[in-house]
Amino acid sequence: MMNITNCSFVFVLLNALILAYSKPESYSFLLTCGSSLDGEDSDGRQWKPDDKFLTLSNNSISIKSQFQDPSLPSSVPYMSTRIFTSESTYSFPVSPSTRHWLRLHFYPSPYPEFDPTNALFSVVAGGVTVLNNFSASITAKALTQAYIVREFSLSPSPDKILNITIVPSWNNNISFAFVNGIELITMPDLFKEPAPLVGFSDQSIDAQSSALQTMFRLNVGGQYIGATNDSGWSRTWYDDSPYLFGAAFGVTSETNKSDEIQYPNDKAKNFAPIDVYSTARSMGPDSKLNQNFNLTWVFEVDANFTYLVRLHFCELYQTRINQRVFNIFINNQTAQEAGDVIAWTGSKNVPVYKDFAVYVYDKPGEEELWVALHPSVDSKPEVYDAILNGLEIFKLNDSKRNLAGPNPMPSQMLIEAELKTKAGSKSSTLKREGNALGIAAAFGFVAAVCFVAYRRKKREPGEGGRTLSANWLPLYGSSHSNKTASYNSKSYGSSTLSSLAGGFCRHFSLSEIKRGTKNFNESHVIGIGGFGKVYKGVVDGTTKVAIKRSNPSSEQGVAEFRTEIEMLSKLRHRHLVSLIGFCKESDEMILVYDYMARGTLREHLYDKNLKSFLSWKQRLEICIGAAKGLHYLHTGAKYTIIHRDVKTTNILVDENWVAKVSDFGLSKTGPDLNQNHVSTVVKGSFGYLDPEYFRRQQLTEKSDVYSFGVVLFEVLCGRPALNPSLPKEQVSLADWARHCCKKANVEDIIDPHIKGSINQEGLKKFVEVAEKCVSDHGLERPPMSDVLWNLEFALQVQESLDGEVGLVVGHENSDGNKPSNARSKNGSRMDIECDGESCKLRINSSSQDLEEKDSSDVVFSQFINPQGR
Ligand SMILES: *[C@@H]1O[C@H](CO)[C@@H](O)[C@H](O)[C@H]1NC(C)=O
Ligand SMILES: *[C@@H]1O[C@H](CO)[C@@H](O)[C@H](O)[C@H]1NC(C)=O
Ligand SMILES: *[C@@H]1O[C@H](CO)[C@@H](O)[C@H](O)[C@H]1NC(C)=O
Ligand SMILES: *[C@@H]1O[C@H](CO)[C@@H](O)[C@H](O)[C@H]1NC(C)=O
Ligand SMILES: *[C@@H]1O[C@H](CO)[C@@H](O)[C@H](O)[C@H]1NC(C)=O
Ligand SMILES: *[C@@H]1O[C@H](CO)[C@@H](O)[C@H](O)[C@H]1NC(C)=O
Ligand SMILES: *[C@@H]1O[C@H](CO)[C@@H](O)[C@H](O)[C@H]1NC(C)=O
Ligand SMILES: *[C@@H]1O[C@H](CO)[C@@H](O)[C@H](O)[C@H]1NC(C)=O
Ligand SMILES: *[C@@H]1O[C@H](CO)[C@@H](O)[C@H](O)[C@H]1NC(C)=O
Ligand SMILES: *[C@@H]1O[C@H](CO)[C@@H](O)[C@H](O)[C@H]1NC(C)=O
Ligand SMILES: *[C@@H]1O[C@H](CO)[C@@H](O)[C@H](O)[C@H]1NC(C)=O
Repeated sequence: MMNITNCSFVFVLLNALILAYSKPESYSFLLTCGSSLDGEDSDGRQWKPDDKFLTLSNNSISIKSQFQDPSLPSSVPYMSTRIFTSESTYSFPVSPSTRHWLRLHFYPSPYPEFDPTNALFSVVAGGVTVLNNFSASITAKALTQAYIVREFSLSPSPDKILNITIVPSWNNNISFAFVNGIELITMPDLFKEPAPLVGFSDQSIDAQSSALQTMFRLNVGGQYIGATNDSGWSRTWYDDSPYLFGAAFGVTSETNKSDEIQYPNDKAKNFAPIDVYSTARSMGPDSKLNQNFNLTWVFEVDANFTYLVRLHFCELYQTRINQRVFNIFINNQTAQEAGDVIAWTGSKNVPVYKDFAVYVYDKPGEEELWVALHPSVDSKPEVYDAILNGLEIFKLNDSKRNLAGPNPMPSQMLIEAELKTKAGSKSSTLKREGNALGIAAAFGFVAAVCFVAYRRKKREPGEGGRTLSANWLPLYGSSHSNKTASYNSKSYGSSTLSSLAGGFCRHFSLSEIKRGTKNFNESHVIGIGGFGKVYKGVVDGTTKVAIKRSNPSSEQGVAEFRTEIEMLSKLRHRHLVSLIGFCKESDEMILVYDYMARGTLREHLYDKNLKSFLSWKQRLEICIGAAKGLHYLHTGAKYTIIHRDVKTTNILVDENWVAKVSDFGLSKTGPDLNQNHVSTVVKGSFGYLDPEYFRRQQLTEKSDVYSFGVVLFEVLCGRPALNPSLPKEQVSLADWARHCCKKANVEDIIDPHIKGSINQEGLKKFVEVAEKCVSDHGLERPPMSDVLWNLEFALQVQESLDGEVGLVVGHENSDGNKPSNARSKNGSRMDIECDGESCKLRINSSSQDLEEKDSSDVVFSQFINPQGR
């Protein structure tokens, strides 16, 4: 066995040498471990089986994953795995004196015989320990990722062979390691220049002989840039906004399309792609204001290491020296005084980068890396402003040739969320056969993802915080993510909010609010969500309002509070819930809305206390109202607004059954004309999440269209978007409905209470458009205007039908007022009584169906709470 492997290794080596001879500069190895077949990933890159490169291995097994997490970018290389039970080595033929990118891919999903939670191992690459006592499973959990990618840059060595050795360690009497994918790609030496060591004016760090780990790589002021757009190096660049400190977001800008970014020379093209340089974040147009704050990014890193901080600049607007001059601070120390991009480059649209090195000590509160920009007042520039286009942070190996930090600890909140998930799945899903457990685990996982997106920790009591899921990105993240990164915004007085809100929005005093809710009396509570409680109240004597009160430990931070005020106060539309005002006093963050007498759409579809059912015509009218609201958001306002959390609990109904879209806490403006999408941390509610958004973290208005498609099916079928108590293939409504549409048996899933009363022609249009909405790819989904047209059509034909034969409501077999029986999906009995206008439902005894639904509600309570946040 060993001999054969060695032979094939020599063969590969020869091949590679021939290859290296003819093409000395660049080659790449992409190995999909444990697979016997070639494969292609979603970026079109070709991956090869790994066995030819495995030179030393007593015991290795290849294994296939059984469950493909929806967040995986593609099945290659994640769905196949190689498991090692003893020390094993991969050897690659390489050109000497060349730097290499090394990327390791891990997908810790449960395998039939191996539980990845038991895998602890080290990886040594080119003599440097890149991972030590590493648990992919713990890391994935703490970062709320299904998969992990670790990227390293290996220093040039004189050897013609590069070894990557994997050493399993013992844990619970088991010792094994696993890896899903290995990338080894030649790279230019990007680390040739010594970087000044911040805080020591006379010292610098030469990274040339060091191995580095990529910790963060951000396209500042821009969007996610995928592997394909990076001239063969396959680097990915992420949106910087999750790392911004406090409320100071600055403003983002983009090159004039008529201008071209001009690299000073060909080598510079390797620094970063054009897309990085053509977008930037600056402080804003107000010179006075800019002098009062720092534009700051904060990163969590491992202590006891030196970091290389690379700042990418490209001036997009100014053309003269001393127009925009600024200071750069790293970890509160001056790294650069009077930085002037034009002085560095000579002209605008020319890229340049600056490197700084900083040592991060192991002192409480210092395992962070702060990068801050401030106008250089002393230089008396023309504008008091600063600019940044890109930011990379690399960790350097220490003197023991080690790059590995400790495993991260999942946050307390995550642990609690997981316990809840476990409790939930125990009562409802564990009993089921087959893959149900895997599915439940996967749901729990995604639930945790969403949960963490909202988590928030307060640093000082009484101060607001801003949600910052700094460890979201699959590539990066430090070891201590339980130190939830949320930061205070000190300047959030009511006056700022008032000015944000413009003239529309009224400021209420806390005493007014207290009076209106009888001091937040529990009897006034009409809903509870992540934000806190929603109260019914009265202001100005008689005006009924809904009052959303952030509880002090709420997970929805100031940022979302602010977004909602900003968005809503600028938007007025018949089908959007109107914000009347707000109250920000002492600890309280309160929003005051129009009161919506009939609550959420969900309550009228399948709530267990449901007394009467909506007719098909009523349902269509509500859908049309909501569609009009969304259509207005997408096209009617100055900027496209993406709601991001369309669901039946965010569609409210007033006393005249007029539907209004609510809850803008997650909304994003974007994309503008030059961009097709906004890249962002994935937020939203599971069951409604656009799979494309989930995969790519790129948001377009078509993500709302997807969610609205789920709403349409919910309305048609009278069941929740997710129901874990159903058989596996039916759990997700979107998937199940799509399946039924394909099989042309939609009839079977229609809510029995309306089935007989639907005009067939209208139904066809309705199903057609709903199915298109939930297409996998955004491009295939119709715009809201098309959706609206189809719904109007369905309503018209329905009205002519209702006009002809009178309102027929109820079960298929219902003949007038006679009670009829229907069976719930679990076989419990439901009696339906119809009285012409509507039908009543009576459920016999405490059916299992409802019990199970309850337990699922516990699991998903974060996401399917009535009357939402
Ligand atoms: C390979 O297996 C043999 C026998 O189990 C063991 O003695 C040897 O140490 C192993 N080699 C490595 C590198 O683990
Ligand atoms: C790489 O590993 C092979 C086999 O395990 C070993 O023979 C060789 O000496 C190693 N080379 C280097 C440069 O470490
Ligand atoms: C490990 O094995 C030893 C003896 O073989 C046993 O006493 C011990 O309980 C085992 N530990 C675990 C965690 O299984
Ligand atoms: C990025 O990639 C997309 C798809 O491959 C391509 O259409 C686009 O032109 C690329 N952009 C740049 C700047 O290379
Ligand atoms: C873009 O370029 C055009 C022509 O050079 C100029 O008129 C315009 O002001 C520029 N826009 C910005 C934002 O710089
Ligand atoms: C950092 O180094 C100090 C001194 O060597 C040591 O006590 C401490 O445990 C190290 N911290 C970490 C996180 O490794
Ligand atoms: C920088 O200063 C801020 C307060 O001004 C402090 O909260 C933070 O911990 C400091 N960061 C470092 C790395 O010292
Ligand atoms: C900006 O950051 C530097 C370094 O931490 C600090 O000294 C300075 O006070 C900050 N300026 C403002 C206005 O916060
Ligand atoms: C990293 O390791 C190399 C040896 O491989 C050493 O020369 C270099 O100084 C180390 N880097 C740091 C920052 O200690
Ligand atoms: C290895 O990692 C596990 C999980 O984080 C931890 O419990 C254990 O203490 C670590 N062991 C060593 C030797 O660092
Ligand atoms: C991290 O989590 C652990 C266990 O949950 C907890 O004991 C510790 O205090 C947390 N650390 C921080 C900085 O929050």
